[in-house]
Amino acid sequence: MNHPVAQQDSSQHQVALSFEDGVTRFITCAPDQTVADASYRQRINIPLDCRDGACGTCKAFCESGDYDGGTYIDDALTADEAEEGYVLPCSMTPKSDLVLRIASTSAVAKTQAATFPATVTAVERLSPTTMSLTLKTPDRDELAFLPGQYVNIAVPGTEATRSYSFSSAPDEEELSFLIKITPGGVMSDYLTERAKPGDELTFTGPHGSFFLREAGRPVLLLAGGTGLAPILSILRTMRASGSTRPAHLIYGVTTDDDLVEMDTVRQLAAEMENVTWDYCVSDSASTAPNKGYVTTLIRDEHLHGGDLAVYLCGPPPMVEAVRKHFADDGFEPTGFYYEKFALATTPDPTPEPAAGPEGEGSFHENFPTPTTHPNPITESEGVPETVPELGENVTEGRRLAGQEIFPRVERTASGGGVVRSVAEDIDVASRVAGQRIWVGTGNGTRELDAGEGLRENAEARGIAGQQVLAAEAIEPLVAPAPGGYEIGEEHPSVHESDAVFEARQALELGALELTIGRLTSQQLAGYRLLAESAVPYVDGDRFVDAAAYTETNAAFHDYLFSLTGNEHLLQAYRALGVKGHMETTLRNATWCDPRCTQDHLDIVTAFESGDRATARRLIVEHAERSKVTTRRAMADAEAAKRPRFITPGRFDGKVVVVTGAAQGIGEQTARRIAAEGGELVLADRSSLVEGLAEELSGHPVTADLETWDGAEAAVAAALARHGRIDVLINNVGGAIWFKPFTEFTPEQIEAEIRRSLMTTLFTCRAALPAMTGRGQGVIVNVSSAATRGVHRIPYSAAKGGINAITASLALECAESGIRVAATAPGGTDAPPRRIPRGGTPPETDQEKAWFQAHIDQTLETSLMKRYGTLDEQAAAITFLASDEASYITGTVLPVAGGDLG
Ligand code: FES
Repeated sequence: MNHPVAQQDSSQHQVALSFEDGVTRFITCAPDQTVADASYRQRINIPLDCRDGACGTCKAFCESGDYDGGTYIDDALTADEAEEGYVLPCSMTPKSDLVLRIASTSAVAKTQAATFPATVTAVERLSPTTMSLTLKTPDRDELAFLPGQYVNIAVPGTEATRSYSFSSAPDEEELSFLIKITPGGVMSDYLTERAKPGDELTFTGPHGSFFLREAGRPVLLLAGGTGLAPILSILRTMRASGSTRPAHLIYGVTTDDDLVEMDTVRQLAAEMENVTWDYCVSDSASTAPNKGYVTTLIRDEHLHGGDLAVYLCGPPPMVEAVRKHFADDGFEPTGFYYEKFALATTPDPTPEPAAGPEGEGSFHENFPTPTTHPNPITESEGVPETVPELGENVTEGRRLAGQEIFPRVERTASGGGVVRSVAEDIDVASRVAGQRIWVGTGNGTRELDAGEGLRENAEARGIAGQQVLAAEAIEPLVAPAPGGYEIGEEHPSVHESDAVFEARQALELGALELTIGRLTSQQLAGYRLLAESAVPYVDGDRFVDAAAYTETNAAFHDYLFSLTGNEHLLQAYRALGVKGHMETTLRNATWCDPRCTQDHLDIVTAFESGDRATARRLIVEHAERSKVTTRRAMADAEAAKRPRFITPGRFDGKVVVVTGAAQGIGEQTARRIAAEGGELVLADRSSLVEGLAEELSGHPVTADLETWDGAEAAVAAALARHGRIDVLINNVGGAIWFKPFTEFTPEQIEAEIRRSLMTTLFTCRAALPAMTGRGQGVIVNVSSAATRGVHRIPYSAAKGGINAITASLALECAESGIRVAATAPGGTDAPPRRIPRGGTPPETDQEKAWFQAHIDQTLETSLMKRYGTLDEQAAAITFLASDEASYITGTVLPVAGGDLG
């Protein structure tokens, strides 16, 4: 008995939101969902305030479609307005597709980084190569940033902007920056030739997801050249908060001239008891005590056994050198956060390192980014004007002790490109923790299953052999686009559930600092709406709908990051794959920490009242509750996998081939046989069978058993490995379509027969010679109670054929010492399919009715009026396959609650 997995909800309506600036965005909206709710969940912020039909803020005009206007008061929408077609998206629900005119521009509907006016208060040359710039802004109260973030400064007298990290702490009144001087560079020219206190300029920001996460674990700070700036901001922040967190700084530069802020570092270290530091210069002519790269100064005592966070700001080769250094030592820090800068070059599919490990310092000046840049990570404008002098810096950067270490990078004079190729960026973007992450989907539905042929879902992917993430859950951490900054974070243990939530918590606390006390009433209204939208899916400590909770929970958490107006933070959050992780782990979950949805509401309340301390506490507690919920779901899922009944040793030493083993009845049968000592060969057309075979210490065979070649290959593989087959369990099969017989095409009839009859015929034919040769063997076929059933006649016929094979083959082979028996499962409750059956899911009302009719008939003809379990099906199959059934052959055993088929 089979049900398709994914049924597209054709009751969803399309709603076009047409904004005043001509932008139109499309959302889908369920008939019982308000347009505002659907809009916010799909990350489109429309005007909102009361969310309750009381204020009129959301008023829009409906250009087409049918809807239920919902309940509201006259003050919000008068009868005349309603008559004209005005609507309140916070109250209305769609009855058809809609087109709504939204009284706002799309730009207003999302937050953006702000532009601040500023005055230069100091310009200081710190060394022959490096200067500091200090600014003051009258809007200082409006500017919140995290230690490690950067801004884009408009260079006075030019059209150019350049990106610089703050070296000052977020609580300091003045804003300071470190800038490497590059002759001919626009900022360098300005600073060296024209800049003076009192100059006016503007900057935009803050940007970046490189910032100090709050946690107690020790930190290793690695600064290359003027990459010291964000590290200084981090240290100053730690000092301001009275941090006792152990920290070690290693500061590396190219030449003695690049060493700056040494007194500042010395003073910071002196004022904090757990902060130590060291520095090195790569130039062999240096007078510094340490010559070389930062990696040469990393000692075991700085690494705290791996339980530390590494913060690195420097050029790409430095990041790669440190990463390689750790990899060579087999060392994985708990968190590795970096900000690196790429040279502007012609894209090259086989890029080479651009500069020496501690590089040229003023990355911001040297490596601006192209004008038309889709990557939100980079904000600088214009092609580099500093191209001519870059070559010199690069050359210097490649030298260590007078020797060239890194190959030279060829660049074009026009600049505007990246060291990394787009392909490489995509590759990096799709990894977290150094592992490539692709994705599977979960839909949270349950289905009936009778053990069937499997077809791989092309989207099903995993991490470390486990399905982890949903396709829509992961976004590139680094956009596959040219140029400039690259910010990233890696967590080797991110695939472990707790680490995912810890990383989310760290990012959320950062997002909180940027947003609390700064949100508009509309933003708060949207935040509350999203908090409320998760509530219906949890009742006490039970999930009403875990999949819907996961969806609404993700929209809630996303929103805080989108409110920062900082795409980097949003990307960093999405790259953690929290949603995909929850989709996988909560797929069959029933228990939820009862505070989870209340946390969402309370967090919004804390934001509404600007109560930072409470919001912080709740975010931390909520992460803890998320961990507990997913841990419990994973434990429950593990327990569910264990067979409920086991007869120890029943299959000791027997070679058992199970077909269609990747999921459902085949998988459960394989689990039981493994637990009872069998040597398994697991055949399936899906490579998912490999994971199961590994888990059960069996041998996987990927083959299409609908073909003779596939069946022969599967049997040959088993014989090659074990020299014999004691038991063959033919489990492949399953209805593809559900509809009256007159609706089947000839091709569909043939497909059903191929799937549910030919697979068993072929595999029996392939395996019998080896069995008869030994004068012993057992074949158990999986038939179906659907030999008497509606709306899958070709499948019923195929299963009738299985019964005929069973009876006749038993007759023919009895004298060869071979038993042939079968079970006939009825409706069986199984987890959601991971592999689609191949047909089209029912979409129209008619198709759904046909589909439902076969379910109704299945229940009706079962005397017990329920579905069976996988354990109940596996019990009958393994009994017939075992020596306990040695006097049973030619028999079909119905396992269908009294339905005899
Ligand atoms: S009427 Fe207040 S938000 Fe819709």
